[in-house]
Amino acid sequence: MAKLNFGGVEENVVTREEFPLSKAQEVLKNETVAVIGYGVQGPGQALNQKDNGINVIVGQRKNSKTWDKAIKDGFVPGETLFEIEEALQRGTIICYLLSDAAQIALWPTVQKHLTPGKALYFSHGFGITFNEQTGIVPPKDVDVFLVAPKGSGTSLRRMFLQGRGLNSSYAIFQDATGKAKERVVALGIAVGSGYLFETDFKKEVYSDLTGERGTLMGAIQGIFAAQYQVLRDKGHTPSEAFNETVEELTQSLMPLVAENGMDWMYANCSTTAQRGALDWWKKFRDATAPVFKELYESVATGKESQRSIDSNSQADYREKLDAELKELRDSEMWQAGKTVRSLRPENQSVEASATDSSTKDVFRQQALKAESVG
Ligand SMILES: NC(=O)c1ccc[n+]([C@@H]2O[C@H](COP(=O)([O-])OP(=O)(O)OC[C@H]3O[C@@H](n4cnc5c(N)ncnc54)[C@H](OP(=O)(O)O)[C@@H]3O)[C@@H](O)[C@H]2O)c1
Repeated sequence: MAKLNFGGVEENVVTREEFPLSKAQEVLKNETVAVIGYGVQGPGQALNQKDNGINVIVGQRKNSKTWDKAIKDGFVPGETLFEIEEALQRGTIICYLLSDAAQIALWPTVQKHLTPGKALYFSHGFGITFNEQTGIVPPKDVDVFLVAPKGSGTSLRRMFLQGRGLNSSYAIFQDATGKAKERVVALGIAVGSGYLFETDFKKEVYSDLTGERGTLMGAIQGIFAAQYQVLRDKGHTPSEAFNETVEELTQSLMPLVAENGMDWMYANCSTTAQRGALDWWKKFRDATAPVFKELYESVATGKESQRSIDSNSQADYREKLDAELKELRDSEMWQAGKTVRSLRPENQSVEASATDSSTKDVFRQQALKAESVG
């Protein structure tokens, strides 16, 4: 395992050079990997493993669109696609990729098929870490580990097809066979990870829940909404407020930050932007730090997991969720965003190449519509 220096701290990392696909294939050659669930991670992980020459089957409930999708993707009923219980029985490694709520509901069925020597694989530390709430307590004679790709299953597949790889964390909760380490790393490589970094179940779920509630989605939407509203209250148009809040960030800055880091971005912007950003970032850090601390506590004390389990198990969950999502979708900011996105040249197929005045009028009207929303 390579030890790499991350900003002065040494960490263990598994790279593809050190653990090539051929080694993963060797480790997994006598295994049947049963991917249970074909939602978002399921297709990415199952298809990548299949293309990597691993013996993979899918377990999915029948008579659903998801079952049909698995068939469309090349899995064959009775050969590589089965009802969940049959796949559980056939698999030697059970990749438990149902939604976190469904994992709780299906646990008694899964448990029945965890015979000695099998492995139970997760892509999240949720079920095991919060086992007092989920009831997921595996028998002692099976391996239990996780590989958590740091991104959507869609990106995992897309990047694999491009010859790239998403990074993933891996962790071992239980090593019953003495082979948990080679099994989990082999799976990590087989599902298409670019490299793997080591963690444990608790750290994986605490950082994941904090991240998605924080800068990845919750905090960033909050900051977008606050800045957008201030600009609107001060008389700026929706298109201007949206462009200065979101569009410039996603279209221009973030691809550069992804490539080179924010330190580079600060060194390579206008002197005016640079002065302002240097003066203000610490104020934002200090203003938000207490909220992040509160968030971490809420994760660590199990409040966030309980809330997620409770809300997902309510009968009217879907309707309530739809109403919340509609509120966001209908907000002026994201409606303005829709029009701004439609004006991107790459989103204007025929129109993009047309230069006649009627087409220009359409563009102008779209821009005006954006400015008059709300
Ligand atoms: N989403 C991601 O990209 C991502 C990223 C990293 C880690 N993870 C982790 O990966 C795991 C899977 O997440 P996911 O987002 O891929 O899951 P998901 O899309 O929410 O899971 C959907 C799957 O669960 C099945 N399902 C739902 N309720 C069921 C029930 N009551 N009985 C039987 N099957 C049921 C669905 O079948 P039907 O279609 O028939 O309902 C479908 O196969 C989770 O632990 C998640 O935290 C996800």
